[in-house]
Amino acid sequence: MSIAKYTVTAALPYANGPLHLGHVAGVYLPADIFVRFLRMKGHDVAFISGSDEHGAAITLRAKKEGVSPQEIVDKYNGIIAKSFSDFDISFDIFHRTSTKIHHETSQDFFKVLHDKGKFIEETSEQYYDEEYDQFLADRYISGECPKCQNPSAYGDQCEKCGSALSPTELINPISTLSGKTPKMKSTSHWYLPMENHEVWLKEWIENGILDGVQQHKPKEWKNQVVGQCMSWIDGGLRPRAMTRDLDWGVKVPLPGAEGKVMYVWLDAPIGYISATKQWALDNDKNWKDYWTGDRKLIHFIGKDNIVFHAIIFPILLKDHGDLILPDNVPAYEFLNLEGDKFSTSRNWAVWLHEYIESYPNKIDELKYVLTSIAPENRDSEFTWKEYQTRINSELADILGNFVNRALVLTQKYYDGKVPKRGNLTTEDENMIVDIQNSAKRIEELMYAYKLRDAQAEAMNLARIGNKFLAETEPWKLIKTDEERVKTIMNFALQITANLSIVFQPFLPVTAEKLSEFLNFKSTKYSSAGDMNLLPAGHSTEKPTILFPKIEDELVENEILKLKNPMNSNFEPQKDEITFDDFSKLDIRLGKILTAEKVEKADKLLKMTVDMGIDQRTIVSGIAEHYSTEEVIGKTVQVLINLAPRKIRGVESQGMILMAENENGELSFMFPEKDFGKGGDVR
Ligand code: 2FM
Ligand code: ZN
Repeated sequence: MSIAKYTVTAALPYANGPLHLGHVAGVYLPADIFVRFLRMKGHDVAFISGSDEHGAAITLRAKKEGVSPQEIVDKYNGIIAKSFSDFDISFDIFHRTSTKIHHETSQDFFKVLHDKGKFIEETSEQYYDEEYDQFLADRYISGECPKCQNPSAYGDQCEKCGSALSPTELINPISTLSGKTPKMKSTSHWYLPMENHEVWLKEWIENGILDGVQQHKPKEWKNQVVGQCMSWIDGGLRPRAMTRDLDWGVKVPLPGAEGKVMYVWLDAPIGYISATKQWALDNDKNWKDYWTGDRKLIHFIGKDNIVFHAIIFPILLKDHGDLILPDNVPAYEFLNLEGDKFSTSRNWAVWLHEYIESYPNKIDELKYVLTSIAPENRDSEFTWKEYQTRINSELADILGNFVNRALVLTQKYYDGKVPKRGNLTTEDENMIVDIQNSAKRIEELMYAYKLRDAQAEAMNLARIGNKFLAETEPWKLIKTDEERVKTIMNFALQITANLSIVFQPFLPVTAEKLSEFLNFKSTKYSSAGDMNLLPAGHSTEKPTILFPKIEDELVENEILKLKNPMNSNFEPQKDEITFDDFSKLDIRLGKILTAEKVEKADKLLKMTVDMGIDQRTIVSGIAEHYSTEEVIGKTVQVLINLAPRKIRGVESQGMILMAENENGELSFMFPEKDFGKGGDVR
C-alpha cells in the first residue's frame, strides 16, 4: 500500500487583529505539529493557510479604526504573517484572500456551481438599516440565538453554541451599525439549498461513507464535531444565502449582480484552494494533485468553525465535483486566560507578537506549554503560573536535566566520545522495550490527533532516561565499575538521540540543539525507538542549558501587565505641543441648565449651558451614558472656543469635556468643590 498523501489546512485567521495564544493553541500549533510529524513519516504534505480578508469582521474593524478595509487587511496580514514566521509555523504558504488569484478562483468556483444549477436565485425581504443605507447580514446584525438564547448571536452564527443562523432567525434583531431595529427591504440572492444534502451528509459524517465508499472510519472524527453537525442536520438544514449586498469582497461573477459579493464563508474556504494554486505556481507543481484523487484533506479549526468546514464547504466541494472532501476536521475547543475568556476589547490576552518580542528565546517553551494544555476535547486555561511550572518541572527538570547529565558525563569520562556498550542486564532489556513502546505510542497518538498525549509520551521517554540515570548513578559507579558505566552512558546517549527525533514536531528549536550537541540528526520518525543511533566512538559536544528556569518575577510581571488597566488599547501619547498651543484652548466651567434628546439620534443630548458670559447650546454624544435628569444642574468643563459645528441640524457652540475609560464608559469631570460657573480651567 502506498503511503497516504495529505493536504492540511489551518483556518484562515481574519486579518482584523493580531493573534493571541488562544488562536495558536487551538489551531496553528497543533496543525504545525501534525504536519511536521507527517513530513518526518515521509508523507507528501501541503500545509496551507492565509489571511481571511473579507466579510464584516474586516469592514467593521475598518469602521472602528476609521480607515479603509484595505488598510486594515494590509496591516493585520503583516502582523499575523510575521508572528507565524517568528513562531516558526511551517506553512508551505500563508496566502491572502485579497489577491487576484483568489478572486478569480472563487469566481470560477461560483460559476461552476451556478452553471450546474446548484444555487437557487431568490428575491426576498431582508433586514435593512435605513440610517446606514445597508442590508444587514452576518455581523451587521445581532440578536438572541433561537437555539441557546445567547443574547448576542450574529446574523450568520451564534458563537456560543456554534449554530449557523440566518438574520431572520434572530430573536429581537438589531443593527450593529445604528443599534436600531431594522426594517425589511426586498433584495435578490443566490442560495445554497442545503436541505437537499441532509441524507448524504449524515451518512458521511457519522459513518464515513460517501457515495458508497468508506472514507473515514466511524468514530474517527471527534465526538464534538460529529455531535455538532448531527444536531444541526437533525434540526433541519435550510437554504443559505451565498451572496451579500456589500462592496467589500469577491464580486459575484454574473450579469446583473452589481453591488453583490460572495458570502465570506463561501470565499474563505476556497482560499485554501487559491493558496494551493499560488504555492503550486511558485514551486512548479500542479495544484490539482492536492485537491483530487487519493489524498487526505485535513482542516484544523476552532470549534466555532465546525459547520462551515464539516457541512457547508463539503456541500460546495461535492457540488463542484472532482474535488476531495475532508478526511477529518480536527476542531479545537477554546483556551481561556487566567480564569477568563480571551477578549480583544478588554485586552485580556497574551498576544503572540508581544510574547515573541519579550521572550524571543522561549519559543519552544511556549509551544510545550500550549500543547500540554491544548483544548483538544474541552475548553482549557492558560495561566502564567502553569507556564512556569510546566517549564521548570518538566522541560528543565526532566528533559533538560537528563540531556545535560548525559552529555556532561560523556565529556567528563570519555572526552565526548560515545562509549561502547557491554553486556546488558534484564533491566536494560526492559528499558529498551519501554522505549520502543513509547516511540510506537507517540506515533499512534499523532495519527489519532491526540497531540497532547503524544507530547506527554515524548516527555515520558525523557523520564525513562532520567529514572535510568537516577537509579544506576553512574557518577558513583564510575569509582567501582567503569565497564558498566560505559553501557549506562551509551544508553543515555541513545535516548538523547531518540529525544532529538520524537521532540522535533513539538520543539523544533530544542531538537535542533540536541542534534548539534550530538552531531547527529535524523528527520525520520521511524528511527525513534532505535537504540543504536550513535555508533561507539562518535563524538558529541559540550551542551548548554536547554531551558533556563522561569523566575517568579516573570510570572508576577506578566500577571501585573494583564491586570494593569494601562495595558489596554489606550492611544499612544500625541505629538508634543507648546504652552502657546495649550493656551489657545478656552476651557471654562459651565452649568447645564436644560437637556433634551435629539430626535432620531440615540446618542445625542442637546443642552443649554450657562457659561457666565453667555448661555449656549451644546450637542454632545452622551445620551447612551447619561439621562437628561442626570445631567441637568451639573457643573462641567467646556471648551468654548471650538469652532461651532452643526450636529444633526443643531449648531453646537462648544464641547463638554469627558473622560473615556478602556471600556468606552464616559465620565464628566466635575470641579471637586462647589465652584460656580464661569471659572477658567488652566
Ligand atoms: O473564524 C475565523 O477566524 C475565520 N476567518 C476562519 C475562516 S477558515 C476558512 F474557511 F477560511
Ligand atoms: Zn446559540
